[in-house]
Amino acid sequence: MKRLISGIQPSGTMTLGNYLGAIRNFVKLQDTLEDTDILIFIADLHAITVPQDKLKLRQNIRSLAAIYLACGLDPKKVHLFIQSEVPAHNQLGYIMESTAYIGELERMTQYKDKKVKQVEGIRGSLLTYPALMAADILLYDTSIVPVGDDQKQHLELTRNLALRFNEKYGETFIIPEAYIPPKGARIMSLIDPTKKMSKSDPNPKSYISLLDDLNIISKKIKSAVTDMEACIRYDLNNKPGVSNLMTIYSCLTDLTYDEIEKKYIGKGYAEFKNDLANIVVAHIEPIQKRYNELLNSTLLDEILDEGRDYASKLAFKKLRKVYNKIGLGRK
Ligand code: AQP
Repeated sequence: MKRLISGIQPSGTMTLGNYLGAIRNFVKLQDTLEDTDILIFIADLHAITVPQDKLKLRQNIRSLAAIYLACGLDPKKVHLFIQSEVPAHNQLGYIMESTAYIGELERMTQYKDKKVKQVEGIRGSLLTYPALMAADILLYDTSIVPVGDDQKQHLELTRNLALRFNEKYGETFIIPEAYIPPKGARIMSLIDPTKKMSKSDPNPKSYISLLDDLNIISKKIKSAVTDMEACIRYDLNNKPGVSNLMTIYSCLTDLTYDEIEKKYIGKGYAEFKNDLANIVVAHIEPIQKRYNELLNSTLLDEILDEGRDYASKLAFKKLRKVYNKIGLGRK
């Protein structure tokens, strides 16, 4: 049986970018892949690579678990767990830090981008983040990792670390493959379409949160940055704002860019944005309804308990094997 794993950091509230680039694909894959064991987790350890407020972090962890389920993850098909509740992630993370070279960690684009935004000092874990991510994946003999475009580089590093370890200690890890969605892998900021939409962006107008008030969602789309041409045309270089909105439109309706362009010939941005706002709201409204039912339910805890126990068993076994290969502890 193959295994699939992916996670999201509870570093804010899920954005439409996280939804289209990640969660929606987890749901599609759960419904289409056969003979695949699926683990999805809440990457809370990754969230503390930058400062977090204790209470907000707790809320965001639970909120993300409820969002996963509200978006359609089915606990009969997926094991859902919280990363920090399975200590083997940190343990293998350390082994991966001892496999990676500082130079390759320093080359990671996300590290370089996030480093310059830190005002309180850069945490060591911001640099070692990809080693922990490698552990998240390799711990479970994973073969498929669905991620958005921004995580491609980290996954490439994971593959390199697995190969390096295997070469030194003998076959231990499966070399995972990234699954990048054909569309929606990089949703851009609504106020600066050259930047990725991010849940930790200090300006909330830049992203659509899945938990935003529906009127706010409408307003954010209607005030998204476009251009002066007043023509709905997909052109990533010259019209990044409109192209980003067309990507969101296309992801949520399954219309191609050509079909969207034809539909809006001779029509202005106001009508296009108004339609898109209605499409996004219609999509998010039922998610919010399910989310509110799940958030404080005992069912949510039962699902997380099952996921933790299932993941812990697999992870512990793998970790023991890795320690033995390296020669740590006693036989
Ligand atoms: N804008 C995006 N478009 C498409 N996919 C995206 N992802 C993130 N942003 C976009 C995908 O969502 C998954 C979870 O990401 P993460 O929370 O682990 O970290 P991230 O990539 O750093 O996401 P954010 O929202 O930008 O978080 P912060 O602001 O905390 O750094 C991944 O599969 C990612 O590719």
